[in-house]
Amino acid sequence: MTGFFDSGFGGLCILEAFLRECPGEPFVYLADNSNCPYGNKSQAEIIAIADRLTRELVERHRCRIVVLACNTATAQAIDHLRAAYPHIKFVGLEPAVKPAAQSSKSGVVGVLATRGTFAGRLYRNTSCRYAGHVKVLTRVADDWVELVERGITDGPEAERAVADHILPLIEAGADRLVLGCTHFPHLKPVIERIAAGRAEVVDPSPAVARQIRRLLV
Ligand code: DGL
Repeated sequence: MTGFFDSGFGGLCILEAFLRECPGEPFVYLADNSNCPYGNKSQAEIIAIADRLTRELVERHRCRIVVLACNTATAQAIDHLRAAYPHIKFVGLEPAVKPAAQSSKSGVVGVLATRGTFAGRLYRNTSCRYAGHVKVLTRVADDWVELVERGITDGPEAERAVADHILPLIEAGADRLVLGCTHFPHLKPVIERIAAGRAEVVDPSPAVARQIRRLLV
């Protein structure tokens, strides 16, 4: 059994990619809507939440693979979880800065995520290691999380919120937009429409699904 959790509906894009990669594979998905958003919570709070959800997946649902379908929880809690549950295989999410930096032609990459993700060690290490040769522009887009939780993924309100964050990045030369929060791929059609060929969206969901499949064998 493979277990997934996120602060709400965001991680469903990871689950969807997983089911495309491994159709029929049994899973449990915990949408922790009551604690959403995670983005501004302290590390201690996120560790406590992630520990409780992992315990439920492991003890109640007998999961042997736990997917943190959430960049913020990964940034703040995956080290704790790996130490606390050494017999469990964990898969985490982190902003796909490496492929974006490697494929950018303009040399400018935009990364959208929560405050908690940007504050984590993983993000700092990855961007130092792989994005030294490009300019990385960051945007905290917490309001997108709230929109997606309200089920608003298209229409004028979504368009305004998307434009507010991506147009400054595109105007500053970004030709890659990294979706560093699992809520954001739900807005991908709007993002692509507004970016209109000026910037490509980098969404790690398919690569994460392939990584889970490799762990299943
Ligand atoms: N979907 C999550 C992430 O990938 C969390 C967003 C939130 O709850 O603030 O970061």
